[in-house]
Order: sequence, then C-alpha cells, then structure tokens
Amino acid sequence: MADILPPNMLNERPQAPAGLLSNREKDRLIERGFLGLYRWYTARSQETRNWNADQSFDWRGMNKNLPPELITVIQGFFAVEQYAPDFTSNLVHLVRRSHGRSHFQLRWGSEEEKHADAWENAVLFSGQRSPAWIEEYKERLRAQTWELPFPDAIHNLVYTVFQERATQLNYLNMMKIAQGRSDRPHLAGVSDPVLAKVAQTIAVDEAAHYNFFLEGVRMYLYYYPEQTLDAIKNVIGQFSMPAATLIPDWQKFYETVYRAGIYGPRDFSRDVMQVAFRNLGIESRKALEEGIRKTREVPTFEGGNFGTTAIWDTFDYGMVEGDVRRLHVKIQDYEKGIGFDLYDPTEFVENPAVPRRTGQAADD
Ligand SMILES: [Fe+2]
Ligand SMILES: [Fe+2]
Repeated sequence: MADILPPNMLNERPQAPAGLLSNREKDRLIERGFLGLYRWYTARSQETRNWNADQSFDWRGMNKNLPPELITVIQGFFAVEQYAPDFTSNLVHLVRRSHGRSHFQLRWGSEEEKHADAWENAVLFSGQRSPAWIEEYKERLRAQTWELPFPDAIHNLVYTVFQERATQLNYLNMMKIAQGRSDRPHLAGVSDPVLAKVAQTIAVDEAAHYNFFLEGVRMYLYYYPEQTLDAIKNVIGQFSMPAATLIPDWQKFYETVYRAGIYGPRDFSRDVMQVAFRNLGIESRKALEEGIRKTREVPTFEGGNFGTTAIWDTFDYGMVEGDVRRLHVKIQDYEKGIGFDLYDPTEFVENPAVPRRTGQAADD
C-alpha cells in the first residue's frame, strides 16, 4: 500500500494503530530484555560454570576400552562443536546491531569452543584415535564452512532453542551410558566416570544456552506473536542438527547415535519439540499449524494488526506474559545488585495488543 501513496503523505501515516506499541518500541523493549538477560547470564556463567576443558577433568583416568561405537559418537560430538568459530561469527554478524545479542553470542561462542576442546580431549584420551588421525579429521572438517540455517534473525533464534535442547539431550544420554545405565545390550556395563563428568558438564552449559534462547523467543512471541509462531512452524518443519551436511561420516554417526539410544526422531518429537512447546505455551504441532491457518483466514487491514486477533488463541499468551514478566524481575534484581537501577532500570511493558482476561465484561 505504501508504494501507491504520494511521498509527501508517507509521514502522515500512523506508525501503529492508536494504543498499540510501534515496532520500534517493541524492538527497543526486546533489546533491553536481551541486554539485561545477557548481563545476568554472564555473571552466572562465570560464577557457576567456569570450567576448563583441560584442567577440570582427569583425562589420564579415561577408560581406554570403551566400545568403538562410543568413540564414533564422541568423535561426532567433537565434529559438530568444532564449528564453534563459524557458528559464532555468522550469528554475531547477523545480530551485530544488538548489544545484548551480539555480546551474548561471543560469550556463547566461548562456551561452545570449550565443548569442542573437551570432546577433542575425550577422543584423544580414549586411546583409540592417534593424534595424526585427529589432525587429519580436523583438517577435513575445517575445509568446510558452516552457514546459517536460515537467512533472518528470528528463524535462527528459534532454531537455536531446538538445537540447544537437542544437544543437551544427546549429552545427557551419553552421560547415562558412561554411568553404566544404558538399556542397550552392546553398551551394558560401560563405565567411565571421566566421560560421564565431561558429558554432564557440557550438558549443563547446553541447558543454560537453551534457557537464554528460550527467554529470547518468549519475548518475541509476546511482542510479535504472528512472526514468531510462523518461525517456529518453519523451523520444526525442517529441523536437523547443525553441520549434518558438513561432517563426512555423518550417516554412520547418526545411526550409531540412534542405536545407542542417544537420539532419534522420537526423542526430537518427545523430548525436544514437546518440551520447547510446553515452555512456549504451545499445545502441540497440530494446534500451532491450525492456529496459524486460522489467523490467515482473518482479513487484515492495511496499517493495522487487526488480523492478529486469532493468533492469541494459538498459544497460552497469559503464561508467556507471566514468563516475560518474571524474566524482567530477575533482570531488575540483578541490576539492583549492581546499582544500574539508579540510572536506567530495565522495565517490563505490557503489550496492549494482548487481549485482557479481566475488565472485559462487555465482551463476555
Ligand atoms: Fe555445545
Ligand atoms: Fe550450546
């Protein structure tokens, strides 16, 4: 519509319908949320997860007789994580205008880099791969470049939520095997406390990553429900683990992971998708697709958000609002501890487009 208006009238068009937040204001609120969350995250990361890939584990004590299948899996974990510089540089570039998000991606990258080093140490100290083999493997991997799975920031943010949860699950299941708790006959009786500790330590990081990105998606979902739900639908429609197309022996890795009971399509559906959905107030994939379809049936009017009314039935916005509010309380508590609140505290601002359950007697 904008292109058929004479240029001198463009400034007279309202930025947003009266009473609604403009996109500029929404972006500002989301940016403040990310910035506060990033600072909280960094302090917490340094306080509670400041481990070192070389010094935090008794590498000499690693089991030298692990089943070969497990070495294939560990080597695959290493292969994925060693793309950390590509993940980080691509994501930083994508969000470079956001202080909170770009600085976070650097911090995140420094944690992913530790994962790569820890898994490489695990490959080496398993005693089943020579340093020369590792060197050559690394060269083959590094000859390829990881590219972003989606072109825009919101899809990549959503993708990362599912990917972090999937990674956490992979490592927790590896930990279980290393603790001798596998139900697969070929892995029964495996015991490696060093490997168990490595897998657990990294899984805790992945859980922290999942939470950061989840909080980010919740903010988007609250202020931009339609675009965010659409991105969620698109991401789960074509989800695969990062670097799957870059790793030379991926098929063998994937099958080994599946046979070891570490990860497969059912795990994705039940322990990744359903968990993330629950955390985002989405009932199911079916409900999500149905909701988006209904939203598109509602006619939209130029310049307004009138078409998005149906979107609020697609997810539990009350729950998401509560989560976004709680995130802000957490950020405010952190800021008070430093004294930031004396200057420019991060505030929660309600999205006025959200239908209110109270005070609507006339509509009920
Ligand atoms: Fe990682
Ligand atoms: Fe991660």
